[in-house]
Amino acid sequence: MAIFQLHICAAFLMGMILPSSALEDTFIAAVYEHAVILTGDTPRNVSRAEALELMNRNLDILEGAIKTAAQQGAHIIVTPEDALYGWVFTRETLYPYLENIPDPQVDWTPCNEPKRFGSNPIQGRLSCIAKENSIYVVANMGDKKPCNRSDPQCPSDGRYQYNTDVVYDTEGKFVARYHKYNLFASEVYFNYAKDPQFVTLNTSFGKLGLMTCADVLNYREPAISLVEKYKVDTILFPTAWQNGLPLLSAVEFYSAWAMGMRVNFLAANINKPSLDITGSGIFTPEGAKVYRFDMKTQTGKLLVAEINARPRLSPTYPPAVDWSLYASNIKHFPASPVFTASFYFDNFTFTELSQEAGNHTVCQKGLCCHLSYKMAEKREDEVYAFGAFDGLHVIEGEYYLQICTLLKCKSTDLKSCGEPVETAHTRFDSFTLSGTFNTSYVFPEVLLTETQLTTGEFQVLTDGRLTSNGLSKPVLSVALFGRWYERDPPHPEGAPS
Ligand SMILES: *[C@@H]1O[C@H](CO)[C@@H](O)[C@H](O)[C@H]1NC(C)=O
Ligand SMILES: *[C@@H]1O[C@H](CO)[C@@H](O)[C@H](O)[C@H]1NC(C)=O
Ligand SMILES: *[C@@H]1O[C@H](CO)[C@@H](O)[C@H](O)[C@H]1NC(C)=O
Ligand SMILES: *[C@@H]1O[C@H](CO)[C@@H](O)[C@H](O)[C@H]1NC(C)=O
Ligand SMILES: *[C@@H]1O[C@H](CO)[C@@H](O)[C@H](O)[C@H]1NC(C)=O
Ligand SMILES: *[C@@H]1O[C@H](CO)[C@@H](O)[C@H](O)[C@H]1NC(C)=O
Repeated sequence: MAIFQLHICAAFLMGMILPSSALEDTFIAAVYEHAVILTGDTPRNVSRAEALELMNRNLDILEGAIKTAAQQGAHIIVTPEDALYGWVFTRETLYPYLENIPDPQVDWTPCNEPKRFGSNPIQGRLSCIAKENSIYVVANMGDKKPCNRSDPQCPSDGRYQYNTDVVYDTEGKFVARYHKYNLFASEVYFNYAKDPQFVTLNTSFGKLGLMTCADVLNYREPAISLVEKYKVDTILFPTAWQNGLPLLSAVEFYSAWAMGMRVNFLAANINKPSLDITGSGIFTPEGAKVYRFDMKTQTGKLLVAEINARPRLSPTYPPAVDWSLYASNIKHFPASPVFTASFYFDNFTFTELSQEAGNHTVCQKGLCCHLSYKMAEKREDEVYAFGAFDGLHVIEGEYYLQICTLLKCKSTDLKSCGEPVETAHTRFDSFTLSGTFNTSYVFPEVLLTETQLTTGEFQVLTDGRLTSNGLSKPVLSVALFGRWYERDPPHPEGAPS
């Protein structure tokens, strides 16, 4: 449909400028990984002027990246969560960094009318950067909303403080605002949005949806409805994500989420190697298009790629997967000895891959995972384990997981299986992994040595098998990472009605 329409327009308007409503088949996306200038090591009370000075220093760097992206033809750029001020705050010390961000329905171009809603220099500057460079800009900043006793939930300091994504269009118009719903445990200086917000945006390059950081892992909403109910083509994802090897490194998980949910995913992370924060990319239903993982330099990095505007209409759009079909219909492989070891405080049931090749079934609660594998060579100095986890994760967020994974253990001590490890030397000639999942939300992960991704070297079959006939680099982890949302406890601000 979209393709057809574009050709019609092009035929009629040959030699003329296309109207901005013309639909595009593909677009150029950009994300910027930013080495944020922080407020300091401990929270500090500062004046509004000092707060603005720091935010403007960060904005100077973002502006440079946005200009470059625009010169490379990007339609849109996503910048990271916390990119203007970092994360070292109390409620009080954050306050000078906040602006009152109105509902976008007010129809406002801050660059043209900077004072219309009081003093909002950061919103004004973001709007001007978008306008001057004719590019959609996605940024993350803090919103403050005064409240009083007429609202029983009003915090004692008389205001809500929201972690907020904002979007400006190519004319600098303020077009979207999203209050983060799933705050991370450490974000005590922000308030939860009362209900999940489903913020979407129609553009000539598809329907876009906003969410941030823990929204992709914690509660079901707004993430799942953005894709399934609102049918967005592309998720815009400012994030500040600390890598959790072996299963929750940023690029690994985002790439898997884009594949599992069959949606484009534009993730912009902070770069702060000393805190394990790096990993940005442009991900599609077919896999990672371009990504960055850099633990060495603490520098910014711009990533640009052309992707399908409406992946559902693309001939390469992957078919839906029945994640438990294969695993539920095969006989279990003979039982092998198991042991317990943990990843991120979750106790997995593992078996060691002690031979060069083999077949294993490992079960935990209702989840049974099957693996057939062949290594190129069984090394004495590296141990791999295969395991299952079926349970509620309760540390730094509560969410129910079902995971089947093959991973490299940190050392040859089996207790180390599931601990972070960065490099590997063992290649696999083949593997097939499957599990009896109770959920249809399963994200296929394949992570190679030094946190590298691959596309085209593995397949997800419609019966739920994750399979490969050989990977070009040694393996850190392979996983089917399932989220069983129905088993989650209620959201801290009350489950959406
Ligand atoms: C900031 O100032 C308030 C008083 O206005 C004080 O109570 C608070 O302890 C100060 N916070 C820091 C981190 O200095
Ligand atoms: C505070 O309460 C009054 C009613 O008591 C109301 O008119 C006013 O809009 C409230 N202000 C805010 C910021 O909620
Ligand atoms: C986007 O366009 C669709 C129709 O194409 C419309 O139903 C929907 O309300 C629009 N959404 C927004 C956020 O403008
Ligand atoms: C996981 O295993 C450890 C060590 O065996 C144990 O201390 C801990 O309580 C277990 N955690 C859960 C949630 O069962
Ligand atoms: C694993 O099982 C398959 C049949 O499912 C069999 O062909 C293969 O030989 C087995 N491999 C090993 C190492 O046992
Ligand atoms: C979960 O899946 C297992 C394996 O297919 C099945 O035995 C079990 O009944 C399912 N549990 C629920 C609550 O659906």
